[in-house]
Parts: sequence; C-alpha cells; structure tokens
Amino acid sequence: MCGIVGFTGVGNATPILIEGLETLAYRGYDSAGIAVWDGENIVMRKEKGQLQNLKDILASEPIGGSCGIGHTRWATHGEPSYINSHPHGDDKKQLVLVHNGIIENYVKLKSMLIDKGCNFVSDTDTEVVAQLIGDLYKGDPLAAITAGIRLLEGSFALAILFRDDPDRIYCVCKDSPMVVGYGRDGAHIASDIPAMLSYTRDVTFMGDKQIAVLSPEGIAFYDEFGTPIDKGSTHIDWDLDAAKKGSYEHYMMKEICEEPVAFRKTAEQYVSFKYRKLKTDCFPWSEEDAQSIKRIRIIGCGTAYHAGLLGKKYFSTLAKIPVEAEIASEFRYSDYTFEPGEMLFVISQSGETADTIAAMRMAKQAGVKTVAVCNVIGSTIAREADDVLFTYAGPEIAVAATKSYLTQVTVLFLAALSLAEVRGTVTEERIASLITELASIPAGMEKLIDSREEIQYFASREFVAQHVFFIGRGIDCALAMEAALKLKEISYIHSEAYAAGELKHGTIALIEDGTLVIALATQGSLAAKTASNIEEVRVRGAKVLGLTNGEMPDVDAHCANVWRIDKTNELLAPFLAIIPLQLFAYYMAVQKGCSVDKPRNLAKSVTVE
Ligand code: AGP
Repeated sequence: MCGIVGFTGVGNATPILIEGLETLAYRGYDSAGIAVWDGENIVMRKEKGQLQNLKDILASEPIGGSCGIGHTRWATHGEPSYINSHPHGDDKKQLVLVHNGIIENYVKLKSMLIDKGCNFVSDTDTEVVAQLIGDLYKGDPLAAITAGIRLLEGSFALAILFRDDPDRIYCVCKDSPMVVGYGRDGAHIASDIPAMLSYTRDVTFMGDKQIAVLSPEGIAFYDEFGTPIDKGSTHIDWDLDAAKKGSYEHYMMKEICEEPVAFRKTAEQYVSFKYRKLKTDCFPWSEEDAQSIKRIRIIGCGTAYHAGLLGKKYFSTLAKIPVEAEIASEFRYSDYTFEPGEMLFVISQSGETADTIAAMRMAKQAGVKTVAVCNVIGSTIAREADDVLFTYAGPEIAVAATKSYLTQVTVLFLAALSLAEVRGTVTEERIASLITELASIPAGMEKLIDSREEIQYFASREFVAQHVFFIGRGIDCALAMEAALKLKEISYIHSEAYAAGELKHGTIALIEDGTLVIALATQGSLAAKTASNIEEVRVRGAKVLGLTNGEMPDVDAHCANVWRIDKTNELLAPFLAIIPLQLFAYYMAVQKGCSVDKPRNLAKSVTVE
C-alpha cells in the first residue's frame, strides 16, 4: 500500500523524508519519490523500483530545503513507472502532491479537466487530483482544497505543497489513514505512526475530510468547510525498536518468535492468571447486554477473517450464541436485514482495511453494535467502532500476519469466555480451568519455536511442491484456512484448505502420487474421522504430514511424518498448532528465495477496495 511522509521545520527535509519512506517500505511499493521546496522552486525526484534507486538519484542530484513530501507508490491506476510515480503536479506548476487511495470518479474529472485545457502526462488518478486542485486554486490553498474534496469520490490521503506557500504542507484524508505530529524540529505527516516515532510520540489521527496545515511553527486543523477546529493528540508508548528487525533475517521470523510474549501481553489485559479470573470490566458488555445478544456476526479480511472463523467456534461453543463469520468485502454488499440484539465483531490488525471499514460502517448505519478487535491505537476502525478490544501484538511489519492472528484469536476466545460467564453457559470452575490451561500456552509455543529446525528440515525437502492441501475438521478446518493462506502468500505455492470430510466430494480427484497433504488433527473428538480422511488420500498416493496434539495412533498410523504439539484443551489447540504452520510457510518461502517480508503484489494494509 502507498506510504506518505512530509516534514516542514528546521533542517534538511530530504533525509527525514527518505528515513520515513524506509520505515513505511514494509507496506509494499513499486516506485518512490519526493518533492522539496529548495528556496526558489518545488523540486521533484522520483524513480521506479526500490527506494535505493531514488537514493542513488538524490546522491547525484541532491535537493536542499526544509519543507517537503515523499511517497512510496503501490500501483493501482497506471503501471509502475517513472511517469506514474508520485509526486504529481498541475499544468501551471502551482502545486505538487502525493496521494494514497483510489479516486473512483477520476475518469469523469479527467475528461472535464481536459475539456478545460489541462494536459495530463500520467495514467494515474492522482494526477487528476493535482490538476483539479490546480484548476480550483485562485491563491488560497485552503479554499482550493475544500472545493476540490467536494468533487472527489473514493478514498484519498493527500499531502500538498503550494509554490506560493512554500514552507507549509496541506494534508487532507478520507477513508485512507494519515497521522500528523509536531516534534523537536518541526511538523511531520505520515501514513503510519512508525514513520514519525523518532521525532515525536504525540500524534494526531486525522478524521475524514479534516485538513491539517503544517508549518515550522506548528499544525493548524480545519474542517471540510475550512473552519478552524481543535484536535487532541495521542501519546504512543511502544518503542521504535519493536518495529525493527534486530538480529533476525526477516521480520516474519522475529514476529513468530514474539508470539509467546504477544499472547501473554494480550491475555493479561483481559485475564488475571493469578486469580484465574476474567477481568470483567475490560469487556464492553453488562450482564443485561450479554443476555440480550441474539446473534453475533464477525467480519474481517484474509487472516483477520480466519481468526474470525475460530471466534465463531468459540462464541457458539462457549457462549451458545448463534454466530456468522463473513469476509468483509462480501458482507458489505450483502442484503442482510439486521435484527435487534445483533453484535458485530470487526477484526483488523491495521484498523485501516478499506473493505472492513466499509462493512463496519454499513452495520453501524443499520444500528448494529460494533466491537473492534484491533492492533493499532487510533486507527480508523479502532476510532469508529462502538467499542474496541485491543490486541497487544506490538507493531507487525511483515506483510504476512502471524502474531496479530494469534492475538486476535486470543481476544476472541476471551470475549467468548466472558460472554459465557455472564450468560451462565460455562461454570466458574471450567473458566478457572481454561485460564489455567491458557497460562501454559506460552511455554508450549516456546517449545515449538525452539524445535523449529525439524520444520526447516521438512521444508528443505518439500519446497518444490507445486500444490499443498491442508485438511481438517471443525477447529482444524478453520486453522487449515490460515495455514493455506500463509503458505501461498509468501512462498507462492498453490495451496488449498479443505474440510477433511469434504475432499471425497470432488477435490480428491486432484490427489495423485506425491501430493503433499497436511492433515490437522488436534481435535481428539474428531481424530478418528480425520484418520479415515488421511487414509483416503494416502491410498491415492498422497504424502501426508499429520499435526496432532498428544497421542493419536489412528492418525500416526497413516502419516509419513507427524508434528506434535502439547496436549491441551481442544479449544486452545490453535494457539499452539499455528506455530509450526507459520514456520512451515516461512521456511518454504526461504527455501524458494522469496521475498518473505514483502511478498510480490501484496501490501500490509489494503486501504483500497
Ligand atoms: C495476511 O497474512 C495478510 N497480511 C492479509 O490477509 C491481512 O490479514 C488482511 O489484509 C487484513 O488486514 P487487517 O487485519 O489489517 O485488516
């Protein structure tokens, strides 16, 4: 996803902009550029490809000046190229800007502007915004921006430099995140917090269509009509090192190794392990609320959706509440009639996923109570949901979600346990016993992480696989969905998750000699059935790797290899089983020489539809 940075203050802007763009590089991009006021003109440097290409150009053609904007582009309209990279300007060279988002009515606006004599050089929707604001500009930047955003449809985060107002940066956003902050040397703007943390920890999250005007002296805020408004700031307390790779080869391995700590930090927000009790005041429901819930709906995208599938199991099994889990991009176009007593859980690591935001807003509009499960304080979903249950995974830099998934499942499990407690569907003794088992989860994870060489060795023999099937029943089927996504998104190996009992209804036709099948069998109550499904594929030539907890002779007998996790309550098995599955995907990708942290075509936060 695109990344935006900006700075105006004391000192050379270029290194600050480049440092910020490097911090945002994890979001995924295919070109980069900056624009700086050099005292006489707004000077641009931009280039296709990695940030190093831009840095090489700046080394030979530096730009001096203390006010500038920068951008890493993840192409949506117009191929990755020099001419399509940002910044973009208007014909009359009155302004340049950078943009994150998608302008849905850019074709109509472009033809209107062409009819007015504008000349376009790129294929981007962003240049349309620059030409539009340039066309509306009569000397007052704020007036041009307020008029311009009224004509834009879609999503945008914009940082704009005006030639006539050289040491100011004008920022405005709608459905695309933007944060501003004032530090020791001046004012900063960025798409995400890490890009400004080394300058200030007090940040302000921009609301839709609000305008920020950054100057060396400070930041002024206006509403969409240009009326001054006041905005508070949020103090960010996580440290920048948490968002750095340290001694790990990849962020993904670092973040897998952080999972025991992330689990504990998240669980401790909602559970007292000492007293084996839930912290009931951490959950946003009274007894009356909990008793009045008629249905729970869960939405998310990708891994967040897969966490929601486990949440569905927990809410129905523990709290005995009817539950639906749905992909956000489908949910938002559904024609549901919402009944009184519904509660929507909105799962999102970044809190900025466009499809999930839109789906949440639709439900809110229908009067549904929304509870976010989110990892980023101040993100759009965290701010707009009626309530938030934060995960405490810390910054997750690798595109592939690992610790965020684990902590999302943790929060969903504890939310279900809390509703079960309030609704009386689970006894206090069972709650205490489950909390005792939860306390042992980090140790079980550490054991699996410490013995990861076994998985690395298995991957070294299997990374040539063209197709991999993950099968399981119940909770294991939900887990298989996440395992399959992890493998394909970072190793580019085609993989599918299938309900083990469903294979024989068609897909088993794809099984042939040597096909790798990973059978998840952590649910003792379903092990015998899964064992039969393993045998069905084995006799047709499949090479089966079993993943079980404790002794399951039925499963072991039919598998070429078995990975074991500590025996634990079946509901808690995913907290352990996901570790080898993530490690397997990681090592397969490393064996194939893939870009583990920044897989092709992917972005960490999909802020466009
Ligand atoms: C998973 O590894 C991907 N990074 C992707 O599926 C991600 O989970 C999805 O885009 C949702 O992101 P969010 O949790 O930030 O909303």
